[in-house]
Amino acid sequence: MKKIALLIVLAAMTLGATAQDCCSKAKNETKKDCCSKSNETKQCKTMKALVTYFSASGVTRNAANELAGIIGADLFEITPEKLYTDADLNWRDKKSRSTIEMNDKASRPAIKDGGKVKNLAQYDVVYVGFPIWWYTAPTIINTFLEANDFTGKTIVPFATSGGSSIDQACKDLKAAYPKYKFGDGKLLNRINKADIEKWAAAVK
Ligand SMILES: Cc1cc2nc3c(=O)[nH]c(=O)nc-3n(C[C@H](O)[C@H](O)[C@H](O)COP(=O)(O)O)c2cc1C
Repeated sequence: MKKIALLIVLAAMTLGATAQDCCSKAKNETKKDCCSKSNETKQCKTMKALVTYFSASGVTRNAANELAGIIGADLFEITPEKLYTDADLNWRDKKSRSTIEMNDKASRPAIKDGGKVKNLAQYDVVYVGFPIWWYTAPTIINTFLEANDFTGKTIVPFATSGGSSIDQACKDLKAAYPKYKFGDGKLLNRINKADIEKWAAAVK
């Protein structure tokens, strides 16, 4: 009985080593290329992901938590140095903080502790979530993208909204940061596990 158990452990270790070799042999290939060529689907899932998000009133926070749970990612909250009050979020008020910030493309609201992600080097994919404000991403997302170096990673936007799509936000972010690689953005007003898994699996 013990011998059989030992054989099973050895077989599992051999398989594990083969999967590891798959990528280590091909240094100039991305993990995904390597996986698809060798059919090592297990290896494809080694892309380490971080879910980051800004949420003024909690909706995007819930979506981010669900997303991180489904794809097994770490979480990082983009917390404003000065939290947004209800009055700040009043889009009908031309003088509210959010209206003033969104009318000034150069505004960069400060993030608590500077917004730098510790150990960013370990992540291949960084999901960046936010509420849609005036059809696009709040400018605190610009602060965040400028506080960190995402070279070599894939940034994947996601958002919640009152109904607007994420398309304009993705377009604006890609135009503002052409040096970075962006994956397809997704609106997460409704969470569908299978849908999210399919979306996440397509990230390169
Ligand atoms: C200043 C402001 C502007 C907004 N602009 C839009 C918009 O253009 N389109 C839309 O569908 N929803 C808009 N919304 C609604 C938010 O996107 C929506 O309530 C979101 O889910 C809030 O997320 P949060 O709770 O994470 O902050 C806006 C909300 C605020 C406060």
